[in-house]
Amino acid sequence: MSLIAERLLRIKPSPTIAVSQKARELKAAGRDVIGLGAGEPDFDTPDNIKAAAIAAIQRGDTKYTNPEGTPELKAAVAAKFRRENDLDYTPDQVIVGTGGKQVIYNALMATLNAGDEVIIPAPFWVSYPDMVLLAEGEPVIVPCSQNNGFKLRPEDLEAAITPRTRWIILNSPSNPTGAAYTHDEMKAVTDVLLRHENVWVLTDDMYEHLVYDDFKFVSPAQVEPALKNRTLTMNGVSKAYCMTGWRIGYAAGPVKLIKAMTTIQSQSTSNPSSISQAAAIEALNGPQDFIAAHNAVFKQRRDLVVGLLNQCPGLHCATPEGAFYVYPSCAGVIGKTTPDGKKIQSDGDFVTYLLESVGVAAVQGEAFGLSPYFRISYATATELLEDACARIKRACEALK
Ligand SMILES: Cc1ncc(COP(=O)(O)O)c(C=O)c1O
Repeated sequence: MSLIAERLLRIKPSPTIAVSQKARELKAAGRDVIGLGAGEPDFDTPDNIKAAAIAAIQRGDTKYTNPEGTPELKAAVAAKFRRENDLDYTPDQVIVGTGGKQVIYNALMATLNAGDEVIIPAPFWVSYPDMVLLAEGEPVIVPCSQNNGFKLRPEDLEAAITPRTRWIILNSPSNPTGAAYTHDEMKAVTDVLLRHENVWVLTDDMYEHLVYDDFKFVSPAQVEPALKNRTLTMNGVSKAYCMTGWRIGYAAGPVKLIKAMTTIQSQSTSNPSSISQAAAIEALNGPQDFIAAHNAVFKQRRDLVVGLLNQCPGLHCATPEGAFYVYPSCAGVIGKTTPDGKKIQSDGDFVTYLLESVGVAAVQGEAFGLSPYFRISYATATELLEDACARIKRACEALK
């Protein structure tokens, strides 16, 4: 008898975490590697947020809290949704989890029966399909081509919906493409969803604050209030507040769903760290001005990386609206041969070649469900990005 449960055979470890780990290992072994695989800001957590955590420890906020989060943090989350997204939620419509990841996981575990379908536009964040599979659901992948800015076309959404569709997962700005939906683009999607009242909307707004060039972020229930009673609006402090290690994510939605998610949380991890929750209150209620300062740096880096990658023979990189990723096409290098005689047959071969030949760690598009592309995170020092792009150019020029 196998030790490992059958449900685990359906899924694999996160490929983005695997790339970051491999880059760290190579570096530790003395190799000169630039890791562009990680999905986290290189900026430190702001001092006022750290101070709130230290104060929480000193105050003795070191005990269990309610499994779904403290009343104070849930109030701060409700106030955030009202202030920033024109969405009114009461505290009992809010849940706080150990990172955005746990919130999404709990929502799927709480609602999917075997065979229920979840529509996932591709390219997608790597964890969505595996979480659906773990919950015994069926991911229904809908490719979103670069011709449409990597965004979902209403007609493709309409065609993907079946009587078994339970959820659609939307993610704007997107990991891995950085693509973000304008109001009109989101409305075109919500118009389709209005006609299918059994389909619920899980919107992952994790990169809400990371948008550039005056782009205006919108969330589905804000664009179409009639969808609010079947939408889970999910967000977190990991990216905008540089708090990836603190593990706080949150969501708001109908009470019935939030209660079901709380039951799962109460029987698995219980509350997220009490200290991190205190820090997250300060993140949401405290000064927000550092976000614009970070964004100015991210925008500069985005423009730098897009410009440099477009000078690499065989690559083409579009300029995304947000997040801190670019998703260049490597169609022009497929079929070419490396200096040591290996044929590049896929984006996976290409990122392996980049790592082995010039020490740049990126993630293959195959992991995100749309090839031939690769993902680069530009949430790293500008000098390293310049160096990495020069290396990628050298590697592309060496292909025959
Ligand atoms: C699109 C998206 N959603 C959710 C998450 C998870 O965030 P957290 O670190 O808060 O669990 C990530 C993290 O990479 C992400 O990119």
